[in-house]
Amino acid sequence: MRPSARCFSTRSPRRSPPLASRWCRSSSPDGEQHKNWETLNLVYDALLANRCDRGTTIVALGGGVVGDIAGFAAATYQRGVHFVQVPTTLLAQVDSSVGGKTGINHPRGKNMIGAFHQPGVVLADMDVLRTLPERELRAGLAEVIKHGVIRDAAFFEWLETDLGRLLRREPAALAHAVRRSVEIKAEIVAIDERESGPRALLNFGHTFGHAIETGLGYGDWLHGEAVAAGMVMAAELSRRTGGIDAAACERLRTLVGRAGLPTAPPPGIGAARFLDLMSVDKKVRSGRPRLILLERLGAAYIAEDTPPDALQATLAAVSG
Ligand SMILES: NC(=O)c1ccc[n+]([C@@H]2O[C@H](COP(=O)([O-])OP(=O)(O)OC[C@H]3O[C@@H](n4cnc5c(N)ncnc54)[C@H](O)[C@@H]3O)[C@@H](O)[C@H]2O)c1
Ligand SMILES: [Zn+2]
Repeated sequence: MRPSARCFSTRSPRRSPPLASRWCRSSSPDGEQHKNWETLNLVYDALLANRCDRGTTIVALGGGVVGDIAGFAAATYQRGVHFVQVPTTLLAQVDSSVGGKTGINHPRGKNMIGAFHQPGVVLADMDVLRTLPERELRAGLAEVIKHGVIRDAAFFEWLETDLGRLLRREPAALAHAVRRSVEIKAEIVAIDERESGPRALLNFGHTFGHAIETGLGYGDWLHGEAVAAGMVMAAELSRRTGGIDAAACERLRTLVGRAGLPTAPPPGIGAARFLDLMSVDKKVRSGRPRLILLERLGAAYIAEDTPPDALQATLAAVSG
């Protein structure tokens, strides 16, 4: 059990000053495999044992796993209590703590049980990133790069120039990357909280990425690593369907590679298996994958009808 894998809960009567009059703590075991009912029940147990009422605020202190569980506890405990996110991984700071998706895994599927519940406050402190393992930092960078690619060419260029500062964990550079990522994600979520439209743009690289994660069995590659390779594949497909040009494709591949992230899927999945895996993605509608493609760097769109031969050619080119 690590200090970062904890949910904190404070109880503050509505009319009292902002400081909590009482607080209790619930720690959860570390890791994606514990994002389940058992861990969620530990949070409910602590809340009930401490007679927490509807004036309770749940504070999630940890990475995305803790944020998702604590958020779902906040969405459901006594039909919903206040919720604050204090994300401690780069991925949680730039992605999972913003947007209000909360939930747990079911043995038959990741993130299958959940609710939308917005945090009242998200507090991202760059200091906590100092202890983050290198591989986790790089995985978080994949989502940062994604935000630039789908929405902001100037931010993408800034990443090309200042990536070294991020890898050295310079607080000012990290703060800029987190702030811009959160702004972009919040802008998109504000238009479409429930993902009936534009929120799907945030899934750029994810349909391919999820296929890699499932194909490998969860836990082998980190989510950000799979998304990194998935983004390069989606860019390649965009080139084949007449979106971005080869030079833009190469710029993305280079940035992903410089961030120490994979630029291609692991060998051995194979085009046919890829297609099969992609067809079970949550984003599939009426049998056809709904892919996010690029018009140019900084502008993505939802492609409902990707030509099957372009998809086949992309998969054949990258998968062994
Ligand atoms: N709700 C959403 O919108 C959303 C979006 C993206 C991802 N997610 C979810 O987020 C989860 C992944 O989040 P994650 O990448 O943060 O993984 P994580 O929560 O498992 O954290 C990764 C590892 O880093 C450790 N850690 C956390 N903070 C640390 C720190 N400051 N110093 C040292 N170690 C630290 C953790 O203990 C853990 O071992 C997945 O369950 C995914 O489904 C949710
Ligand atoms: Zn992601």
